[in-house]
Amino acid sequence: MPGLELAVVVPAFNERLNVQPLLECLAAALRGIEYEVIFVDDDSPDGTAALVRLAGLHDRRVRVIQRIHRRGLASACIEGMLSTAAPYIAVMDADLQHDETILPVMLRKLREENLDLVVATRNTAGGSMGEFSSARVRLSDFGKRLGALISHCDLSDPMSGFFVLDRRFLDEVSHSLSGVGFKILLDLVASSKRPVRFGEVPYRFRNRLHGASKLDILVALEYLQLLLDKLVGDVVSPRFVIFGLVGAVGVAIHLSILFLLRQVEHRTFAFSQVVAAFVVMTLNFFLNNAITYRDQRLKGRGLIFGLASFYLACSVGAVINLRIALFAVEGGVSWLPAGFFGLVAGSVWNYAISGIFTWRRKKSAAARLYSGAPVLEKPPAV
Ligand code: GDD
Ligand code: MN
Repeated sequence: MPGLELAVVVPAFNERLNVQPLLECLAAALRGIEYEVIFVDDDSPDGTAALVRLAGLHDRRVRVIQRIHRRGLASACIEGMLSTAAPYIAVMDADLQHDETILPVMLRKLREENLDLVVATRNTAGGSMGEFSSARVRLSDFGKRLGALISHCDLSDPMSGFFVLDRRFLDEVSHSLSGVGFKILLDLVASSKRPVRFGEVPYRFRNRLHGASKLDILVALEYLQLLLDKLVGDVVSPRFVIFGLVGAVGVAIHLSILFLLRQVEHRTFAFSQVVAAFVVMTLNFFLNNAITYRDQRLKGRGLIFGLASFYLACSVGAVINLRIALFAVEGGVSWLPAGFFGLVAGSVWNYAISGIFTWRRKKSAAARLYSGAPVLEKPPAV
């Protein structure tokens, strides 16, 4: 029997109705190729995983990785790709928007031209965005231009989620992947330390038959996070950059409230300052909870404790801010840079402390289980 040649990794969230049609399409398109299909499902409420398992009962080439308490297209693709022994790995969507009939063409090109990667692309002659709305085309174009900042390679469709790669290329970049957001292809090429040998095959993007797209505002934010991670990730954590951006918005709002209460309402400085600080701390808490720490978002009771600990952390942060700024001013630094130093020191403190107390990572059930288990010093005698 010939060995496994190709793995098709399919990230899926709420794609129950597309599972069977996709498997049939793949079986027809990949005739003569030894392949397996790995769905990576993030515990879809519609029961996608159970349905894939059912298919796997009759077809051993089909399996599912069901991730619990996890979300994310890129990280799903990475886990799927790492789970296979196949020498060539395809990634495609579950919703039949990607034209599976070009998979053999992509695979042949990859092998014959000895490439790292072959991308199915919508932006070259013969390819098409299908019936994408003009707004969506513009968004895709804008994303593409931003992506060029980090990709160091001239892909005509870096936003594509449909490609085949050589596992040796995956092994080269796997430890540098960011794994955030939607754009796994960009992540792969931006993680390469050398020029990527890539090819392209045009195709027409189809319409979705069942289910809905998961593209939303968070996806756009995650795209920014991916860009940040690739641009400055070696120096500062992208989470800190986002925390800082939220903080900067907070500073602007703080000053506006202060101005309003002092100049318009003629309140005392102390009163105005305290009101502004509380409004901004509360706002920043909710923004950070929604954006910066969306993967660890607090809800219900956790939200109240979180807010309280955030107030506490930021109050100490404000004292540090003031102390450092005053110290600098006394040392002869002029007020503007002094204020800036204070702000940076306060923000670093807020970030560090709120990361430990407010958005501390919950231990997973597995971690809890293992931390209670006795550690074997010596292997048991047999
Ligand atoms: N496991 C997992 N987890 N899968 C997900 C998640 C997630 O959080 N979010 C989306 N998916 C799956 C969907 O079920 C689908 O199979 C695939 O990822 C793409 O998601 P869609 O929601 O259909 O994305 P789209 O059609 O808007 O985006 C398409 O165009 C982009 C380029 O504009 C896809 O082809 C993308 O891959 C592509 O980057
Ligand atoms: Mn889609």
